[in-house]
Amino acid sequence: MTRFRGPKGTDDILPPASRVWSRAELTFIELSGVYGYEPAITPIFESTELFARGVGEATEVVDKQMYTFADKAGRSLTLRPEATASVVRAVIQAGGVQGVMKASYWGPMFRYERPQAGRKRQFYQAGVEYLGESAPEADVEVIELGYRFLQEMDVPDVEVALNTIGDPADREAYRAELTAFLQERIDLLSEDAKARMELNPLRVLDSKADVEAVAGAPVPIDHLGPDAFAHFEAVKAGLDRLGIPYRLEPRLVRGLDYYNRTVWEYIPRRYDAAQSAVGGGGRYDQLFELLGGRPTPAVGLAMGIDRIILAMAGSELPRILDLFVVAAGPAWRDEAFAWLSRLRHAGIRADMALGDRSVKAQFKAADRRGARAVAVVGDEWATGAVTVKDLETGTQQVIPIEEITAWIAEH
Ligand code: HAM
Repeated sequence: MTRFRGPKGTDDILPPASRVWSRAELTFIELSGVYGYEPAITPIFESTELFARGVGEATEVVDKQMYTFADKAGRSLTLRPEATASVVRAVIQAGGVQGVMKASYWGPMFRYERPQAGRKRQFYQAGVEYLGESAPEADVEVIELGYRFLQEMDVPDVEVALNTIGDPADREAYRAELTAFLQERIDLLSEDAKARMELNPLRVLDSKADVEAVAGAPVPIDHLGPDAFAHFEAVKAGLDRLGIPYRLEPRLVRGLDYYNRTVWEYIPRRYDAAQSAVGGGGRYDQLFELLGGRPTPAVGLAMGIDRIILAMAGSELPRILDLFVVAAGPAWRDEAFAWLSRLRHAGIRADMALGDRSVKAQFKAADRRGARAVAVVGDEWATGAVTVKDLETGTQQVIPIEEITAWIAEH
């Protein structure tokens, strides 16, 4: 037993459990491709100031959760707690958006949180950013994409919690009203809420300790300017047309400061761990300017892969090998190994147990390794045939070697 352990709040994802992670990654890449997104690959660390400005100094993410360190030249760097600020920084640096850019990403993010199920210090997000588009259909498309991803990952009963927080000008007037409301109840508020009030009173709305105190508080959705109002009406109508179920959540403000207008989270109804959102996103039309770029409307989301895997229905691991080759005896090993190579060249996902093992041990290995079928190389080989067995149904037959690809496709 090694005395070395992975750092607190991190998970090791090893075979065979990693099969589910591959499935999530491939599903997301495929689905976002179907929606017209292309990968954006940015550094895992950035200057600390990028997140302080982009995500917002007043957020918990920046205030309490950043993995910040100085490099050998004394620069302050931070492991990315999220990727939106990085993608926007990279696009500005490359000259900005011509027309629209649809970027997707997948990878680890880092937040110094109190670890528990579904809340990690290194966790994984898959996300998309639709840059340069102000139309409400962009919001609808992004919300739909996240919803479809959860369906394809077999996360049952997902609800979209939806809200709008208006534009900065709407929020200014609203903020004054909210602050006045909170001032009147200052004695009822938690210490945490009082601190939030100073920095960003909106954040008091979703403070778990202050649900009662803020029950009658004014909410942003009642303080929208005409443009933000029309935008939100169009988003809701678009979701209705596509049949995406949503629930209005007037107190949803999200934990990052760059949002305006539409914000949402995906909440699986059956998953009742303390951290329940398996993904979230929103519009952020001011972030480009905030980071020194040209005004560029944008909307995006990130899905929390760790939580999605916890919330998935069923725990059976997918079988990942098409075929496991078994040598009927030591004399057949060389023949079997050479055939294995030809099968792999033909794109068949195949493997075999190496070394001197009994047929029984090889069958056991086939099962453990997640093979869907076994082919035995033995006496029939001389007549150009192999014995195949479907491990899911248990059926067994002798087939000509050249029919193996067709047989696999059928099983
Ligand atoms: P976020 O809501 O901070 O949004 O994170 C998105 C998702 O990441 C959450 O819904 C959750 O599932 C997962 N997540 C967050 N923190 C943890 C953690 N400590 N452990 C496990 N999972 C976690 C963003 O990050 C935005 N960048 C989304 C976005 C993209 N908005 C616009 N574009």
